[in-house]
Amino acid sequence: MGRLEGKVAIVTGAARGTGAEAARLFVEEGAQVCIADILDERGEAHAAELGAGAFFQHLDVRREEDWAALLEAVHARFGPVDVLVNNAAILDVRPIAELDPETVRNLLDVNLVGPMIGTRAVMADMAARGAGSIVNLGSIDAMEGMGWVAPYSASKWGLRGFTKSAALELGQKGIRVNLVCPAGGSAELSEGFRKNLMERIEAGEKLSLKGIDHAVMGGRHAKPRDIANVILFLASDDAGFCNGAEYMVDGGHTAGHIWFATE
Ligand SMILES: NC(=O)c1ccc[n+]([C@@H]2O[C@H](COP(=O)([O-])OP(=O)(O)OC[C@H]3O[C@@H](n4cnc5c(N)ncnc54)[C@H](O)[C@@H]3O)[C@@H](O)[C@H]2O)c1
Repeated sequence: MGRLEGKVAIVTGAARGTGAEAARLFVEEGAQVCIADILDERGEAHAAELGAGAFFQHLDVRREEDWAALLEAVHARFGPVDVLVNNAAILDVRPIAELDPETVRNLLDVNLVGPMIGTRAVMADMAARGAGSIVNLGSIDAMEGMGWVAPYSASKWGLRGFTKSAALELGQKGIRVNLVCPAGGSAELSEGFRKNLMERIEAGEKLSLKGIDHAVMGGRHAKPRDIANVILFLASDDAGFCNGAEYMVDGGHTAGHIWFATE
């Protein structure tokens, strides 16, 4: 029996990347999944590939009316929501000297306000049954800072704070809220990140991807399945007493630093 047998899940930003992989794993584990994204064609194609256990619904996480329409569609198709994965996010790579308030506001809207109104949208379903799991996607940048992506890092620290507060408030209704914090880097995982970076380089900016030190894991980067496995655990009843915590999926990146090594 699958670990999400009989559960109804919404995964935002699931047309590609980590969200797409989480949706795939959820279906493999018996869930009925709504793939929610602004990328209609890609989302439809992914849902079609996953079969009867999935359908696509257009969702801009910034728009309350989209959340209302999404809930209506999920109820009509599968029933009340058991799991929400707040995965959709955007990144903007630029130095603080060039901060553009409009871009920052939009980033906070997607990365922070989106998960908040998403949580509000699904909590009645979960509270009615006294159970539910909300998994938010943080980052190593929710635990540390990162140069050239200060607003992104701030949005992820904000989401971490929201996760803890929501865990305390909604835990009383049987709803668990947790944060998964990946470190990315691979082309497979970081399509959005690379697109933003490449656009800025093509626009003439002197910017390069220094990358992060993955020496701890023998130089390997995270794969989408590495992240999806932890999202699955937190979504499932196996994580029945996990609430309000961060789960690092960073190969040890935030564990500290290495000064010495043996052959
Ligand atoms: N990939 C990494 O290296 C990495 C590292 C740390 C954390 N994360 C986090 O993991 C999550 C997934 O990252 P990813 O690499 O798969 O990103 P991605 O850019 O490949 O995918 C994000 C998805 O969100 C969607 N999206 C963007 N704006 C939206 C909106 N307004 N409404 C609905 N959907 C919207 C995009 O269309 C896309 O399908 C994000 O929260 C990201 O911050 C990623």
